Amino acid sequence: MNRAQNGPLPAKLIPNLGLKHRNTFGFDASAELAYEITSPEQIPAVISDIAKQKLTWRVLGGGSNVILPESLSGATLLMNITGQEMIASDEVATYLAVGGGVNWHELVIWTLENDLPGLENLALIPGTVGAAPIQNIGAYGVEVADYIDSIEAFDAKEQAFVTLRKEACHFAYRDSYFKQNPHRFIVTQVVFKLPKIWQARIHYADLATQFFEGSNPSPEEIFLAACKIRTRKLPDPTVIGNAGSFFQNPIVPQEQFETLLKTHTDLVSYPDATGKRKLAAAWLVDQCGFKGQRMGDVGVYQNQALVLVNHGGGTAQDVLGLAKCIQDKVRAEFGVSLQIEPNIF
Ligand code: EPU
Repeated sequence: MNRAQNGPLPAKLIPNLGLKHRNTFGFDASAELAYEITSPEQIPAVISDIAKQKLTWRVLGGGSNVILPESLSGATLLMNITGQEMIASDEVATYLAVGGGVNWHELVIWTLENDLPGLENLALIPGTVGAAPIQNIGAYGVEVADYIDSIEAFDAKEQAFVTLRKEACHFAYRDSYFKQNPHRFIVTQVVFKLPKIWQARIHYADLATQFFEGSNPSPEEIFLAACKIRTRKLPDPTVIGNAGSFFQNPIVPQEQFETLLKTHTDLVSYPDATGKRKLAAAWLVDQCGFKGQRMGDVGVYQNQALVLVNHGGGTAQDVLGLAKCIQDKVRAEFGVSLQIEPNIF
């Protein structure tokens, strides 16, 4: 049979798939029925199959921002669509189309090797390209939304492929239209717009301290500096299970911030674009004495209070139990609610 004429092979079906190595927390989870998606054209048949069997479903990318239970019932879509190419170039920018299953950090390296700077501040963020826009990944003063042109996705509600321009994606701090509409979109490809005129973005305190005042670092130097900070502060998930920041930085009204400042003069915060105030969740958790603490097999990382870790043998229930203790104490101490950042499956 000629595959070129008849489309790609159907998605591979894998029953009872172990996911211990497909989630960076390293939780011992298993998917009842996994579909391996290597091409967008496989998706409509998979979704109709799932609907016929009345199964629940979810999408799994790199597993770096999820909390998995022991058993995932129904269907789990493993996104393995690869491929990256320059699709256009004009006076202002280069446009890159990248498959949702491509590893994020490898894409950052590839862009730099091909003289396409812009993504260097986002080096070493775990996960896939398709997952990046869902929570609008960000680090060191840059968010992925700054470089997105459009997203290709399968809309399970409308049963159709859609192209969402950046404006339609409603990007905000660790938020997007995709995150606000769970179980609806399956991101297949991201189109990046990388401006031809590059400007270093090193205003973020941690990054600024890596360079001499007035120095003019190259994209590669910024990339290396971001890697250095992350390696120092964040645990390597291949060594100690974690999902990066476990809580979002809470955004509070200016009046609440001013009241808090009276009793906590060293409160760490940043101005927010909407006139509110973003508090450093890491500082709040740290002040409550959780840094380096352990609760059974899970704990709070010793170098970063915002990162919860699995010391080995921990479960979703364990980490959510620890999270509840932290949330309760931070609420009692500061009157602030911490929102869990990774997706709870
Ligand atoms: N701090 C403490 N104790 C700690 C750690 C930090 O008091 O244990 C205080 C420090 O004063 C520091 C402030 O908290 O100045 C903020 O810490 P940091 O600059 O390390 O960044 P963060 O707010 O903890 C955020 C993102 C990270 C991102 C970094 C760098 C969120 C929830 N987290 O962390 O993103 O890499 O900034 O831009 O926005 C992720 O989302 O998974 C993630 C790792």
